[in-house]
Amino acid sequence: MPYGTSELAKPVTVQTLRRMKADGEKFITVALYDAPMAAMAQRTGVEVLLVGDSLGMTVLGFDSTIPVTMEQMIYHVEAVARGNRKSLIMGDMPFMTYATPEQALANATRIMQAGAHMVKIEGGAWLAETVRMLTDRGIPVCAHLGLTPQSVHKLGGFRVQGRDEDTAGEILNDAALLDEAGADLLVLECVPAPLAQRITEAVSMPTIGIGAGRDTDAQVLVINDILGLTEKPPKFSKNFLVEAGDIPGALRKYAEDVKNGVFPDESHTFN
Ligand code: KIV
Repeated sequence: MPYGTSELAKPVTVQTLRRMKADGEKFITVALYDAPMAAMAQRTGVEVLLVGDSLGMTVLGFDSTIPVTMEQMIYHVEAVARGNRKSLIMGDMPFMTYATPEQALANATRIMQAGAHMVKIEGGAWLAETVRMLTDRGIPVCAHLGLTPQSVHKLGGFRVQGRDEDTAGEILNDAALLDEAGADLLVLECVPAPLAQRITEAVSMPTIGIGAGRDTDAQVLVINDILGLTEKPPKFSKNFLVEAGDIPGALRKYAEDVKNGVFPDESHTFN
């Protein structure tokens, strides 16, 4: 049966995603923010629904993710949870809500109680203790390395990371430390494809790429980019609506192209 013609057979868990990595089967992630889109994505077979703090830019009109609050994240996680049945919901923790392990535990609890199955946090080695604190207490964690948008002012803009040997080595080292600390997934955003491939081979947790080439275990795109709603779309994204004609078709085409290794191609990749 072609991909996306039926709902997911069973609820997706962290174990499902680890099994898919072991089997070399790519999984699909979409960043989305509301109940009808969540319902449509999970009907198409999208394994992971990311309620990203990108909603600050895609939905709320801010020019970064920094102003996003816990209350806004909880509101959107609850909406996505109402539309979902079987996909795994990952909720982003907003800027400065996980600056200490204790603060992370208190805020991650609220995101999980809103309906998420996992939380996502941005940063490297300094988060190892937090990852351990959350995962030891039963909260799955997705780490996020490379371009970490909450640090946009420190990074000097939304730029590709890990282009030279030193910074690439640092990202590789961070990935290894977070893997060892017990992180369940790793988003790699805007890093050269060969670095993403090295990290994917080195760590036990599945990796999800965005602007990281085709060799990660999964891909994520923001729904606004998939549907051509972004005024200046990033190089790594693709409007799947043009070709597909309707929203379920666009989601299906994105998923099929990732599963078949057609997306991302060289034109979406940093080398
Ligand atoms: O907030 C978000 O949507 C994200 C993805 C772009 C990975 O972090």
